[in-house]
Amino acid sequence: MPYKSCIIGTGSSVPERVLSNQDLEEIVDTSDEWITRRTGIRDRRISSIHRNETSTDLGTRAAVKAMEMAGVTADSLDMIVVGTVTPDNQFPSAACMVQKEINAVNAGAFDISAGCTGFLYALAMADNAIRAGHCRRVLVAGIERLSSIVDWQDRSTCVLLADGAGAVVVDAREDSNGILSTHLKSDGNLGELLYSTYSTSTIPEILKDIDTKPFTLRMEGNRLFKRAVSYMAAISRDALEKNNLTAEDIRLVVPHQANIRIIDALAHTLGIPLEKVFTNVHKYGNTSSASIPIALDEANHAGLLKTGDNVLLVSFGAGLTWGAALLKWSM
Ligand code: UT7
Repeated sequence: MPYKSCIIGTGSSVPERVLSNQDLEEIVDTSDEWITRRTGIRDRRISSIHRNETSTDLGTRAAVKAMEMAGVTADSLDMIVVGTVTPDNQFPSAACMVQKEINAVNAGAFDISAGCTGFLYALAMADNAIRAGHCRRVLVAGIERLSSIVDWQDRSTCVLLADGAGAVVVDAREDSNGILSTHLKSDGNLGELLYSTYSTSTIPEILKDIDTKPFTLRMEGNRLFKRAVSYMAAISRDALEKNNLTAEDIRLVVPHQANIRIIDALAHTLGIPLEKVFTNVHKYGNTSSASIPIALDEANHAGLLKTGDNVLLVSFGAGLTWGAALLKWSM
């Protein structure tokens, strides 16, 4: 039997500080009512330079938890792949910085920049490396500190974005479960809808302890919204068709957590009941490439995933990029 890429451990880590919609009312001209109704977000986590909450710290904690759950040691990892747009440094990569912290002495390590689809791009690279026989065990993570690139005077974005990290250990196994297929797409022509620009944000008093980078994020939310639903639906259908499955065969969808209205519309378009769609956007906001691995870890801890369950992961983000992974749960 050919090797399959099997997730054998999940982990996540979010900053301690909760920033509520009410807190944001003190920062920009917004309201709890607007944010909740338009996005489903109530709280989000924001890192602080006074706690150990750099991207490397958050990613390391998520990685250690995933390895503990998997019962594996860092020296058994062949590769570390991180999806991120907010590594602590331009270089070395977040993957190399996490490698140092966990002492994964036998691993190659690199980052992938694919916006909110970063984790799925990283998972696809891990799956391909395992299928090709190049790797036996890969740590895949999504790590973001979007608070460091948010324009805290732009109410159309600062209420959405947040910080966190999630990770999975992927192992080569002779198993009928595991990753069935991955699907990746992009369209650079639409890069103008979500991009970074060199400028610095004025930081509000109550967030003086956040780390900032010399660039900020710009987004055309409304134009993105429509594409988010149609592109994620299309690539989800590609994944189902490729594996001769229908929407009824899916046990759980774990979508990118950008906006509850996008998630609801996606579920409706695919004909998947909301009970089969995992959401935690109300607690964490949009953590970009970290959102799927954090959600997957929470779904796993909540006992929502049983061995052999068909699970659909689907995401959409800057690039534009979008992607899906269909897997049979392997834990
Ligand atoms: O992570 C992957 C990439 N990101 C996404 O996929 C995000 C996709 N987009 C969205 O989630 C939504 O488009 C948003 C949540 C960003 C915005 O919701 P919307 O329903 O599309 O609102 P809108 O941009 O059309 O704005 C409607 C109104 C505007 O006022 P006017 O022009 O109608 O007077 C905005 O100025 O809401 C206003 N507005 C706000 N009002 C209060 C925008 N942001 C806020 C705010 N508080 N925070």
